[in-house]
Parts: sequence; structure tokens; C-alpha cells
Amino acid sequence: MSVTAIVGAQWGDEGKGRVIDYLAQKADVVIRFQGGDNAGHTVINRFGKHALHLIPSGIFNPSTHNIIGTGCVVNPAALLDEMAQLQAAGVSLDRLWISARAQMVMPYHRRLDALEEQVRGRDSIGTTKRGIGPAYADKAARSGLRMGDLLYPDWLEARLDHALRTVNRKLQLFGGEPVDGQVLYEQLMTFREALADRIIDTTPMLRQALAQGASILLEGQLGVMRDLDWGIYPFVTSSNPTAAYAPVGAGLPAGSVTRVIGVVKAYSTAVGAGPFPTELHDELGERLREQGGEYGATTGRPRRCGWFDGVAIRYAAWLNGMTGLAVTKLDVLDTFPELKICVGYRLPSGQVISDRMPDTPALYQVDPIYETMPGWMTDTRHVRRWEDLPAAAQAYLQRISELAGTPIAYVSVGPEREQMFAVSLITEH
Ligand code: GDP
Ligand code: IMO
Ligand code: MG
Repeated sequence: MSVTAIVGAQWGDEGKGRVIDYLAQKADVVIRFQGGDNAGHTVINRFGKHALHLIPSGIFNPSTHNIIGTGCVVNPAALLDEMAQLQAAGVSLDRLWISARAQMVMPYHRRLDALEEQVRGRDSIGTTKRGIGPAYADKAARSGLRMGDLLYPDWLEARLDHALRTVNRKLQLFGGEPVDGQVLYEQLMTFREALADRIIDTTPMLRQALAQGASILLEGQLGVMRDLDWGIYPFVTSSNPTAAYAPVGAGLPAGSVTRVIGVVKAYSTAVGAGPFPTELHDELGERLREQGGEYGATTGRPRRCGWFDGVAIRYAAWLNGMTGLAVTKLDVLDTFPELKICVGYRLPSGQVISDRMPDTPALYQVDPIYETMPGWMTDTRHVRRWEDLPAAAQAYLQRISELAGTPIAYVSVGPEREQMFAVSLITEH
């Protein structure tokens, strides 16, 4: 039996989708455990190029069950669009399931997300405007609707009525138009029609999978630096992308997780606001963006780019209990003669720290301390074994591993499924 959580180790967009697509070739079940269609998980394989938003990245393996877990917030309209795109590309959706306990993102959540960002003005978070924050807020306030509510029309109608009493007051407060409950109810009934067969109580399936020793992958969205509790609050998402939440959001016992793979880019990127200590504002940052194609998979926004942050990774590795790293986008650094890695932060007091992330206001004030390493100036895109990597690339990866205190389990040197390989190095730390 193996239950592997695959989580973002940085600010999101580390390449989780492609890592899961690769690992799912041998997985029985893949479960997305948090987030919503704010995610953009890019997968390139024989079905073409797909940016997945809600559907787990194991969907391309026809024998894998793919579950949108209880910890997720699901916009049914976005899900149906995504399903149609995959179907058009010949991908089977026969084993796609949705937890009845997953929350529903309603059209008014998107409107509220946009209005709230507008009201924040120059203090805006830079959300994806997918309604994620308002949907999780309603979940915590106990006024959310869940996917399983679609199966009980009377209950659904009553829950909607309850929710709209608050929502319509809020919308009016922001100067927005109130929601017509009847129109929305009818729209929800069309979602019921299209999705009812896939909405399940995940417990029996997952109990059985565990009992049979199945291989299960838990797919995280975003990364630890945008974790609601442990990220750069308030510039975070409204759920927990860290591994400890994976069994909660997936619906498995806490102790069932056997491996935690942290997906990490060979440099750093972030979209949205908030402190980002190793950000490059010069032509090197621009080069990383162009070479790495660093534009948001969901919003198309240019990503902020910077050097690899060894402090953030050490923190992420410890907090997630990572057992291995999957380092992606190594090839993007192929033409850089010199690379920098941040190995510590100098605080205004002069103190240097290297194993924890200061909280947001303090993080704005840190001065990153860099180590310089030689680049390899070699095309790595065809490499498929650790031994065949240039020595300078091995040294760079070893340094990342040392800083994380975690062995490297996988390396990717291009966006396609084949451009990734497992590493069986025994790294002592
Ligand atoms: P996710 O949200 O963590 O799944 O990551 P995204 O899909 O948002 O962003 C990762 C981007 O990098 C996508 O465009 C991928 O196709 C691309 N990518 C992933 N791994 C590699 C790699 O090893 N090399 C290159 N050049 N691109 C990669
Ligand atoms: P994947 O899963 C990168 C960022 C937004 C914003 C903050 C809050 O593809 O890595 P939200 O819409 O969640 O309320 O926005 O989080 N953000 C992401 N950044 N990749 C993502 O997903 C993101 N999902 C949200 O830019 O800063
Ligand atoms: Mg992404």
C-alpha cells in the first residue's frame, strides 16, 4: 500500500500536474484534496496539452479513479467546461468522481471575489477571482452549499434560500445586483442533471482501496507559501495546501500517508501579491520568465520570477514532512552561466536565519544571502538518468537537496511526460 501526498513546495505552479500525470501511470486512485478552479495544472502527454483546474491530473490513465475530494470547492459550470474539453480530446471520464461533501462555488462567490478585490484597492491580494475565498468563507460560516445537496432538491432549495439571505445583503453592500433565487435554483438543477451520477460518498471506495493496498495519490493545489495558516498571510489562498491537510481533504485516516513528495521548481516564481524575497526585478528575472514560459495557466498573468529560495524550501520540507523532492524545470536554467541560491535571510537586526520563514511584515524586510554556483551551459532536455546530467547540474540539485534536508526523488527536464525520471540516490543529510 502507498498513499503519496504531492504538494507544492513554493508559491504554486511548481509543476504538480505534470508530476502527478507521470506518477498516475501506476496509481489506482488520485484525489484532489483542496482548492478549486484557481488551480492550473498543466499536463502534456499523448492527449495533447491540458491545463487542469478541478479534475485530478491522473485523469489520463483510464484505469485510475479520479476524485475531487471533500476539501475542494467546486464550481460546477467550470467543471462541466473542463469535462467537455477533455472528452473532446478523447480522454475517458468514466472514473471521475466528486465527493458529495465538497463545497460548491456559486456564481455569486465569483462576483463577491471580484468585488472584494475591488474594495481592497491597492491592498488587493491578486486572487484568481474564481470565488475561492468567498466559497471557503461560506463553508466556515456554515452557509455553503455542497455538491451532495444537488441530490436532494428540497434540501437544496432551502439551503439556497438560507444562503441568499446573507449573500444578497452583502452584494447590496458592495453595490452589486442581488441574486434571483429561482433562476439560480434552475441553473443548479441543470448541474444536477449533468453531474448527479458522479457525486458520491467517497468513504466506501477509499476504505476498500486502503484495505486492498491500492496506490493512492493525493494531489495538492498551490504551494506552502500560500497556505492559509503557514503562508504569507493575508496574501494566501483560503485553504491548506500543506500535506497535513491532505488526508482531511481526501477523506483518509491521518496515519495513512506513507510518502510526501514536495514539487519544487529549480528557481522561484509567484503570481499575486505579497513578499517574495528572491524576486529578480532585472533582465535575469525577465529571462527566467521567457525561458520558463512563466505565465499563469489559469489567468495568463506574468509570473514574478527569482532565484531558488533555500530558506523557503527548508521550511516547506519540514512543515510538510517531505520524504522526497521532485525538482522541475531544470532545463530552464540550461543557458545561465551562473546561478544563485538563497541560503539565508539577514534580518534588520543583523541576525541570519535559514530554517524558518518570518511572518509577513518581517519577510518584507529580510535581505537574502546568496551562494553562487556555476551553470552547466548544456542542453539537459534529453537527459533521462541522473548519471547523464552535467556535473554542475548534479551539484546544483545536490545543494537544493541539502538545503531541504530531503533526497531528490524525481527530476524533470521538460514539460512532456517522458521528460521526467526517477532518481534513486541515497542522499545523507
Ligand atoms: P502546477 O500548477 O504546479 O501544476 O504547475 P503549472 O502547470 O501551473 O506550471 C508549470 C509550467 O511549467 C507548465 O507550463 C508546465 O508545462 C511547465 N513545466 C513543468 N515541468 C517542466 C519542466 O521540467 N521543464 C519545462 N521547461 N517546463 C515544465
Ligand atoms: P496551482 O494549483 C499560483 C494565488 C493567487 C493569489 C492567491 C490567492 O496552479 O499552483 P485565490 O484565487 O486562491 O483566492 O488567490 O493565491 N494562486 C495561485 N498561484 N498557482 C495557483 O494554483 C494559484 N491559485 C491561487 O495568485 O496570490
Ligand atoms: Mg498552476
